[in-house]
Amino acid sequence: MEFNLTEEHLMIQKAARDFANNVLKPGVIDRDEHQKFPAAEIKQMGELGFLGMMVSPTYGGGGMDCISYVLAMEEISKVDASCSVVMSVNNSLVCWGLETFGTEAQKQKYLTRLATGEIIGAFCLSEPEAGSDATSQQTTAIDKGDHYLLNGTKNWITNGGTASVYLVIAQTDASKGHRGINALIVEKGMPGFVVGPKENKMGIRASDTHSLMFTDVKVPKENRIGEDGFGFKFAMQTLSGGRIGIASQALGIASGAYELALAYSKERKAFGKTINQHQIIQFKLADMATEIEAARLLCLKAAWLKDQHLDYVTAGAMAKVFSSEVAMRTTVEAVQIHGGYGFVKEYHVERLMRDAKITQIYEGTSEVQRIVISRALLA
Ligand code: CAA
Repeated sequence: MEFNLTEEHLMIQKAARDFANNVLKPGVIDRDEHQKFPAAEIKQMGELGFLGMMVSPTYGGGGMDCISYVLAMEEISKVDASCSVVMSVNNSLVCWGLETFGTEAQKQKYLTRLATGEIIGAFCLSEPEAGSDATSQQTTAIDKGDHYLLNGTKNWITNGGTASVYLVIAQTDASKGHRGINALIVEKGMPGFVVGPKENKMGIRASDTHSLMFTDVKVPKENRIGEDGFGFKFAMQTLSGGRIGIASQALGIASGAYELALAYSKERKAFGKTINQHQIIQFKLADMATEIEAARLLCLKAAWLKDQHLDYVTAGAMAKVFSSEVAMRTTVEAVQIHGGYGFVKEYHVERLMRDAKITQIYEGTSEVQRIVISRALLA
């Protein structure tokens, strides 16, 4: 068993850390407060290769492994989780889904531009009445011969307003249950496709979350991903990798908050000494560091399994449920260690605490991860 990172991994980690500190940090409070989408920053992330890290160089990607992706996600998320969710959705849901299951024509048309960040993508599964229960799709894609007629509403779609390409999951034949669901590539601007208003969120406020409305949108048959009825399995397999990305985001939020709390504890004095000399603070820091290390190992194990083409579904769910809970606990403690300063924006930890919560909700709630894990245990 090898725990050391390779030279290449260390380089990628450092590049992501430098980018996060030099480019993302200066404007992160302002973007969060005013819900400003980080358009210039995302463009730069594309140029640096962070938006298509695992995509083959044939399609404009970095050809990197999933371990590199976890390392970069952690570093970006330490500083700006609004940017890292764009990165996660584009890499592990949209690019991975297209590269793994798309036709050559779909890859040529969409993947290269997505992998280089020329355009970004969105993954559209959740609906007003279908979140965790993903088979209950109300959006319909009726087979009309050479095209599907798409009708319905999608909710809480990351990159909803800024994406150019949307992977939309919809029901074609309800009588077939999950085998009647399809995944379609929908382009912004297709007649009948309307982007709803931006959500005003508790956390990851600079990211761009919208509902989407489809009314008689004609989607050509060649835009279907996989065979007829493959849409639900497409979504499940794509989300299984996506969960490694969100687990790494949660890990980054936790480790970012921990690093801030550790640094603050070395400066702040109380009762005649710096607070890191009080055992109550030392024990908090010890618990935070231990849990973060455990979360990191789970994320890297899931990534390693994916890189080895082994089954990573349960490992990814474990990494996500644990890391997101560590993110919540760690950020709450980081605010506590900062005392009153932790409650104001300049110290960053209150934002990290707000950002942490969504990692327990999207790409499958903590409850869904426990369903996935327990089904594997009992199978
Ligand atoms: N890989 C491959 N196939 C899978 C799979 C996986 N990970 N999980 C399930 N399947 C297959 C099953 O084998 C089964 O196939 P067969 O019938 O041929 O055997 C089929 O899919 C149906 O599986 P289940 O019976 O397990 O399905 P279920 O209805 O019981 O649902 C669930 C299981 C795990 C709860 C699933 O619905 C789920 O993951 N829900 C959560 C969805 C989710 O993550 N939503 C988040 C929205 S996306 C998002 O947040 C993106 C963003 O913007 C950030």
